Amino acid sequence: MEQKTVLIGVTGCIAAYKTCEIVRGLQKAGVRCKVVMTEHATQFVGPLTFRSLTHEPVAVGLFDNPSDPIHHISLAQEADLFLIAPCTANVLAKVANGIADDLLTTTALSTTAPLVIAPAMNVHMYENPATIYNMGKLEARGVRIIEAGSGYLACGDVGRGRLADVSDIVSVVLAELGIRRNLEGRQVMVTAGPTVEPIDPVRYLSNHSSGKMGYALARAAAVRGARVTLVSGPVSLPKPEGVRVVQVRTACEMLAAAEEAFAVADLGVFAAAVADMRPKQVAAHKLKKGESDSALSCIELVRNPDILATCAASKGRRVIVGFAAETDDVVAYAKGKLASKGADLIVANEVGEGKVFGADSNQAWLIDAHGAEQLPLMSKDRLADVILDRAVSLLP
Ligand code: CTP
Repeated sequence: MEQKTVLIGVTGCIAAYKTCEIVRGLQKAGVRCKVVMTEHATQFVGPLTFRSLTHEPVAVGLFDNPSDPIHHISLAQEADLFLIAPCTANVLAKVANGIADDLLTTTALSTTAPLVIAPAMNVHMYENPATIYNMGKLEARGVRIIEAGSGYLACGDVGRGRLADVSDIVSVVLAELGIRRNLEGRQVMVTAGPTVEPIDPVRYLSNHSSGKMGYALARAAAVRGARVTLVSGPVSLPKPEGVRVVQVRTACEMLAAAEEAFAVADLGVFAAAVADMRPKQVAAHKLKKGESDSALSCIELVRNPDILATCAASKGRRVIVGFAAETDDVVAYAKGKLASKGADLIVANEVGEGKVFGADSNQAWLIDAHGAEQLPLMSKDRLADVILDRAVSLLP
């Protein structure tokens, strides 16, 4: 799934400090957050706080950004969803009636993204017929209102008006974005990238794997709420947000790290392109032309351990997803690997001639005990979601 952007509007209410937690909750699910504040909101929490949390500029005034004279339009267009939390009675009334007299309300009027509003105010303001009428008006227009909770309010009153629980607000926003949290409480282990098998201190055997598929899977699993350990060979990709990365080089190192992580996992996804062989001897010093010609022209290789098959041998009820990289007879070879390796699901694809390695998209087959399903060409981010949907359905 492509990264989603949520624009968060913060209004002048004591609950504004809770928006910091909303930002963190959404970020943990892989969502990019941008913040727009009313002038009054800046009295409660400084824009610098949100800027530090989001690593994005924080918008306040309509005319603050001289390089972007129609800032409300660019903010509105960037958002996949506009959340106003906390939303005061005043801003709620303005949005309900199409009033646009500052950056936040102008953006609310100009966005075509879904609008979610989490009100927070004094109990009498919340129960005032004007506020109830405005909330009804917004709901009738398809705006999602996350009802305020009851309890002790900052003004000393007890009653309805407290900002809804941060976790409820985060859940509603993720659901509206179509982000499923169906791996919450689960542990996932992913292997990714190539392995490198040294010949001497400067030379090695390896392959063209970029690691993109494994990294997309690790990121997608974290977005769904899993605790993810990514056992990665050397790649030049940024660490996915919220994922524990264990860096390895050789197949033997990858096996040790994968076995440790898989021991506590519910799901193992083996996306690494493990080198099948390694040099039997690793020279302690650089092999020199002339002096070591025989060692350089004839490198004796030995089989590497099969990481997937080793983990599958004692998998119990854990689910294993493997890959099959083939140049021909893709489905037939992949069916063979499903059986011989003990996987529950094999993602098969054709490799070679610029296909798959390093690419951002992939055309794959999903092969399990029931048969083979050919998938259309899609981005590796999208494919990661399709694979996880299937893997989740196999979990006990
Ligand atoms: N795999 C593994 N350890 C290995 C080799 C492969 O864990 N030593 C895993 C890969 O991560 C992948 C699956 O096994 O999930 C199949 O990998 P692939 O390279 O397609 O097949 P191989 O097992 O190497 O078989 P072959 O080279 O004969 O196609």
